[in-house]
Amino acid sequence: MANAGTTNTGAIDPLVELAEIARAEGLWHHVDAAYGGFAVLDPEVRPLLQGLELADSVTLDPHKWLMQPFETGCLMARDVTRLEAAFRILPDYMQDTDLGTQQVNFCNRGLQLTRAFRALRVWLSVQRYGLAAHRQAIAQAIGIAAEAADRVTGEDELELLAPPSLGVVCFRYRGLTTEPPVSEESLDELNRRIQDRIVQSGFAMIASTRLGDRFSLRFCVLNTRTTEDDVMQILDRVLEIGRELP
Ligand SMILES: Cc1ncc(COP(=O)(O)O)c(C=O)c1O
Repeated sequence: MANAGTTNTGAIDPLVELAEIARAEGLWHHVDAAYGGFAVLDPEVRPLLQGLELADSVTLDPHKWLMQPFETGCLMARDVTRLEAAFRILPDYMQDTDLGTQQVNFCNRGLQLTRAFRALRVWLSVQRYGLAAHRQAIAQAIGIAAEAADRVTGEDELELLAPPSLGVVCFRYRGLTTEPPVSEESLDELNRRIQDRIVQSGFAMIASTRLGDRFSLRFCVLNTRTTEDDVMQILDRVLEIGRELP
């Protein structure tokens, strides 16, 4: 399987190449686009996701970048008969519910038997706000993250820990001191404390992760109400606290 936007960094696998390998080897090719898939709505980002259309199945999470309440997960499969072969059960007490092959019964396509009509909220919000509003929200999030990444690159005391991608920016405070060399452990500890101060003070909810062996602060801009100013203020705080801490 390939990833069209990893949780950690937003990185996108080479989707075309992986699809070709899967086809040559006769493998089912699944793409996890739960986080990044809806970025296809942004015409500037869409080329990065080229190859998504070659997948045999794709997971998408409208509760991530389609502004839906959780949980509104979604799986698209090219050949739905495979799903039905895997999941369809018909115990005797359900014989009355057998709709035959002419009608869709979603309990034959996944683990859940009793399920809510989650698709309704997606349909309603696309009808109400239009795809253009969703497209604009995605482009805005990516734009804010790109501005944040530029600021991190421009500040000597900050460093990016991964290339920014699809609204995710991984970075850390490293200060100016190079003499004596600062150990990775002490940078981990410093950034953990910076995160702790920002979150505990209620100033902002900044996330963290580990990349390789390193502790990373992490922005994942998704909410339509997040502004560039919010993100810049958090970077200001990171710098202030980083300078204050011993
Ligand atoms: C790339 C990716 N795949 C899968 C998941 C899991 O999604 P869910 O929590 O909707 O099951 C996530 C959630 O963060 C994700 O980012």
